[in-house]
Amino acid sequence: MKELKYIIGKKKDLPEKYHEKMIILIRSNDSERLPFEPPSLAFYRNYWNLPKPTEQETITVFAFNDSDELIGFGYSGWNIKYDNLEHGFFQIYVVPTNRRIGYGTEIMRKLFSQIPSQIKALAASAKEGSVGEAFLQKFKQESCFEEIIRAADLSEFDLEEIREVVTKETERIEQLGYSFVELESFDYAEKFNEAEYVKMVERIWNDMPREEMSFGEDIITPERYKSMIEYTLKKGDRNFGYAIATKETNEPVGHTRVLYNKYDLNLVEQDDTGVVHEHRGNGFGLALKYKVLEKILSELNAKFWFTGNAQSNKHMIRINKKLKHKTVGKKIVYEFKREEWELI
Ligand SMILES: CC(C)(COP(=O)(O)OP(=O)(O)OC[C@H]1O[C@@H](n2cnc3c(N)ncnc32)[C@H](O)[C@@H]1OP(=O)(O)O)[C@@H](O)C(=O)NCCC(=O)NCCS
Repeated sequence: MKELKYIIGKKKDLPEKYHEKMIILIRSNDSERLPFEPPSLAFYRNYWNLPKPTEQETITVFAFNDSDELIGFGYSGWNIKYDNLEHGFFQIYVVPTNRRIGYGTEIMRKLFSQIPSQIKALAASAKEGSVGEAFLQKFKQESCFEEIIRAADLSEFDLEEIREVVTKETERIEQLGYSFVELESFDYAEKFNEAEYVKMVERIWNDMPREEMSFGEDIITPERYKSMIEYTLKKGDRNFGYAIATKETNEPVGHTRVLYNKYDLNLVEQDDTGVVHEHRGNGFGLALKYKVLEKILSELNAKFWFTGNAQSNKHMIRINKKLKHKTVGKKIVYEFKREEWELI
């Protein structure tokens, strides 16, 4: 195995002449990790040039062969604000023509040597059954989390039928004392008490199953939530959805959020859907999804509606199956503890 050369740092440390190649590699990495064709290069060029969120620190190991060609990278990030300050994630990518000669392992070692001492656990994921999973399994036998990705073919729905369901659901929830509230971008802050809305999001996040992952609770402040949405908008997403609120006090008790990227018009991503504990058992999760499906079918031009759920999230999986979602892939997460990665 020939020695690799490295540049370690951030985008600004990589000479300009390698930027387009790096953008292509990032897209290729995604194409091996996702169950769908990733968005066009235009998405990745925009993404590459975005200022990264300030709540995370990141580092990239750019790897070159002896002809100075960029042949792979290692990337890691960790929170420096809010929560989970001892946890991070990483990814390794090597171009297909240079695999199985030990470069992936070398890049990973180099990356691990850069991780600051406060970080005690790093997670990495790969598509089930992929070469990436075989690679991670060489170093770590047990996975800690399985996310099932499911998608519905939107041509299988009849808009008129969905409208009828939504009309009935709207009446039903009205009778129970609730109503739907339409959401777009940042308007949750006008339609609700902002702090109350963000608290609901935090509770919903912290209620999602983490299986064996050691990540602890998330702390979502209004500032953090706003900056997350700002970042998705900059990535080219339209960010919209619905909340369910009590009619009497306008308290938000559940919401659903959908992302539709202008660089990837075939896919619509179903992000969070959740209802706080005290208001469960009323069918609000499914009602919210019917409501947002009506909007997807009437306003967007997407072909597939996809979402990911923890393997153990039985309630949401049942809802998604009702909404014609079929499994398209699984993302398997492996978590490395510091004492484990220091031995590699
Ligand atoms: C995963 C990846 C980085 C491996 O790069 P690589 O340079 O081939 O890795 P190495 O040569 O160091 O392989 C180390 C070990 O991983 C395992 N492995 C890697 N590729 C494998 C494959 N195709 N089949 C079975 N085992 C494999 C083997 O145990 C291998 O050791 P061996 O060759 O002595 O048997 C590369 O395949 C890749 O970029 N895949 C796409 C991105 C990805 O999925 N990354 C993983 C998640 S972070």
